[in-house]
Amino acid sequence: MKYRIGWIGTGLMGAPMARHLASIHDVVVYNRTIEKARALLPSVTVARNPKEIVEQCDIIFTMLGMPEDVKNMYEDVLIPNAKPGTILIDATTSSPRLARQLALLGKEKNIAVLDAPVTGGVSGATNGTLTTMVGGDLHAFEKVRPLLEKFTKTLLYMGEAGQGQQTKLANQIAIAGALASLAEALAFAEASHLPMEHVLTMIQSGAASSYASLMYGPKMLKSDFEATFFVRHYLKDLRLALEETPIELSILSSVYRVMEEIAKQFPYAGVQAIIAYYRDLISRKVDTK
Ligand SMILES: NC(=O)c1ccc[n+]([C@@H]2O[C@H](COP(=O)([O-])OP(=O)(O)OC[C@H]3O[C@@H](n4cnc5c(N)ncnc54)[C@H](OP(=O)(O)O)[C@@H]3O)[C@@H](O)[C@H]2O)c1
Repeated sequence: MKYRIGWIGTGLMGAPMARHLASIHDVVVYNRTIEKARALLPSVTVARNPKEIVEQCDIIFTMLGMPEDVKNMYEDVLIPNAKPGTILIDATTSSPRLARQLALLGKEKNIAVLDAPVTGGVSGATNGTLTTMVGGDLHAFEKVRPLLEKFTKTLLYMGEAGQGQQTKLANQIAIAGALASLAEALAFAEASHLPMEHVLTMIQSGAASSYASLMYGPKMLKSDFEATFFVRHYLKDLRLALEETPIELSILSSVYRVMEEIAKQFPYAGVQAIIAYYRDLISRKVDTK
């Protein structure tokens, strides 16, 4: 079945995800910086504002940056203007509490609001191999399952509204350890004057291998801090996880503090810029010797 689908937010992740849907369906896109939406022409139609999308579509995806963006878009535009029976799917990494509130708000108008954050990065979005975890109404989930499968390899229904976001926060905690320990290991090896290409090859091919080592390791060595995943977005994820955790989690807390420092200098860099923090620590130590 061919649908007319709305897509709001065509940034690093949203653009390739929307492209997958546009290979089968009619997709109407909107982005605040409108050039990023126009870059998807001619595979899609570009709306002048999000209200145009609500008027034309009864299945609408959002892939925005921050929870505030999601709150404003859903409370001010989507939920007030959507027709009863509409399904709204938020793929942004956002707040579980907000997801629950929006689902309740939608329910009052017979609008299903699903939280469906993703993991797998820009490469997963481009290749259609993301992992997507969904919270919210099961019937609505079953209806949009074939659409989610267009950009998803591993699709997980997690239960009630907010559970998709809560699951994603667990993922972001797991990334904290992998990312920070990779940066620590590389900074340690650099300070030991080891041949760094060999050090990275060892980490990538042995027991310490990880997505971080494969995706971010080479960029760390070259100090290539161009973003595929922004520091400011990861800091937001860690802050959300800190808000939700019932106990003190030491890795989460310490990596949050490091990312806070990095975000002061490089908010729009990629998360691999974390290595700059450890290099800076080492150079200050060497200077004081
Ligand atoms: N990059 C990754 O590897 C990755 C992986 C998984 C999840 N995520 C999460 O997915 C989300 C998006 O990440 P991203 O890397 O794609 O970031 P991004 O490139 O900044 O994309 C966000 C897009 O949303 C648009 N936007 C924000 N508010 C809007 C509004 N009110 N109306 C219309 N458009 C709006 C932004 O427009 P402007 O261009 O005008 O700012 C931007 O194009 C974030 O929550 C992030 O944490 C990222």
